[in-house]
Amino acid sequence: MINIKIDNTERSVEEGQTILEVCRNLDIEIPHFCYHPGLSIAGNCRMCLVEVKGMPKLMTACSTLVQKDMEVLTDSDLVKEARRGVLEFILLDHPVDCPICDKSGECDLQDYNFDYGIDKRRSIFPKERHKVEKVSEKIYKNDNRCVLCTRCIRFLDEVTETHELTTVDRGAHTHITCVDPEGLDNNPFASNISDICPVGALGLNEFRFQKRVWLTDHVRTICQGCEAGCNLNVDLHTRQTALDPNLGPVVRFISANNYSMRRFFICDEGRYSYSNYNKTEERLLHPELDGETVTTEEAGSFLKEALSSKSAGAVVLSPLVSVEENYAAILLAEKMGYDLFRPSPYRKDLPEPALFIEKVKAPNHNMMKLLEIPKVTDMETSDYDVVLVLHSIGSIRDNSLVKILSLLKRAKYSIVFEVERSEFSENTKLALPAPMFLEEDGCFINSGKRIQRSTGGLGYPESVQPLWKWLFGKDFSGPESLLRKFSKEKLGIELDYDKIGQEGVEL
Ligand code: SF4
Ligand code: SF4
Ligand code: FES
Repeated sequence: MINIKIDNTERSVEEGQTILEVCRNLDIEIPHFCYHPGLSIAGNCRMCLVEVKGMPKLMTACSTLVQKDMEVLTDSDLVKEARRGVLEFILLDHPVDCPICDKSGECDLQDYNFDYGIDKRRSIFPKERHKVEKVSEKIYKNDNRCVLCTRCIRFLDEVTETHELTTVDRGAHTHITCVDPEGLDNNPFASNISDICPVGALGLNEFRFQKRVWLTDHVRTICQGCEAGCNLNVDLHTRQTALDPNLGPVVRFISANNYSMRRFFICDEGRYSYSNYNKTEERLLHPELDGETVTTEEAGSFLKEALSSKSAGAVVLSPLVSVEENYAAILLAEKMGYDLFRPSPYRKDLPEPALFIEKVKAPNHNMMKLLEIPKVTDMETSDYDVVLVLHSIGSIRDNSLVKILSLLKRAKYSIVFEVERSEFSENTKLALPAPMFLEEDGCFINSGKRIQRSTGGLGYPESVQPLWKWLFGKDFSGPESLLRKFSKEKLGIELDYDKIGQEGVEL
């Protein structure tokens, strides 16, 4: 650690970091366009200029390393004047069409312009105009708004190494062009360029003119697409407006930075999976006994009868379900002396490039592996009178599916905890409606043994209940107490939602 002064305040900071990184960690805002934590330093936008005592000129905070006894000013009059100058140049050719820009409300240029109040244009030349182009099936480009930060080009050069974008022309006529539209269509990570563009120059065709971002609520969660555990910011349409009453409730997934994992991007499969959570036709919304809808009380009586039957039982956990819900089932199995099993996960083919995408299409598979739960296909007997199965259809291999179905068919008391109607819910005595992802808080353990928290911003319908409520009643103290007990008893550490925080904890 070294001591430096930032804005006349002594700070002890880590050596080897840039001024911008140090300030970010200290919540001191330094405006920037070209810097991105997941890309190389370009130092081309000059928006991050700061004063460093002893230096003859202003320095770029994104490319200047902190040094012992350095004195930095991030908001002096000179710095503010320089930022105003940079913005004035950028805005010379910029359309400032915020009312029809999809980035509006989350645009860095809009925010900085607001902060520094650039309201005059001194040039006598007309603004240069480019046509808005659909550069691929997924992405459109609006050069008029581009600030030439080159984040998009660096992402495709350095991260996916596919090189579909580049700059053409010179001086004031420089702009971005796509040299390989087909490559962009086939790039499994291409849509990240819409997230990392700091302005509305690159956007997703699917999101264009769909939603004002300030009319959505935001939650942070974990992608369910594989066991990589990428972090997502989710926009939810939980408030009806006159303009778009039919959209949602899940409007989009975008990537959320996780500095601890050094993960700043998501794959397109994960990004576009948001629409799965808007399909409700197959949703199981009420308990069903022998295929007939029953009340919560009738479902509860069947459950009680099953658990008091003193018969041999088996519980099949799920790699799709949170730590808390799986642990509720484990507690039941431990109390009743039931055997525990897990299905084998389905393994998908990886695209090219695959980067961090995992073959196992289930966000919590590692929990089962860590607890060394035996596979359902390895079970020695199928003689169970009570069988409880947590929903896992869509993520498991066929041999597990067949085994689970045969268990359900043979059991006297078969119980399935399911989000949608499925082969499981059709082959069981009792089907209990489960909350879907985004309806309940819960944690997932990714392939890198990181436990991360997912927030359920939607809340679940009245007739749906989490498993712990079905098993232990409404008075049970909830998912966080299950997490505390699980971490203490099974991992030997004490965890709660605060400790897990936004970026998770490595186990
Ligand atoms: S399109 Fe966006 S990300 Fe690419 S250079 Fe322009 S402003 Fe930067
Ligand atoms: S790599 Fe996996 S976890 Fe990450 S966004 Fe893609 S599907 Fe989701
Ligand atoms: S962020 Fe430093 S020069 Fe662009």
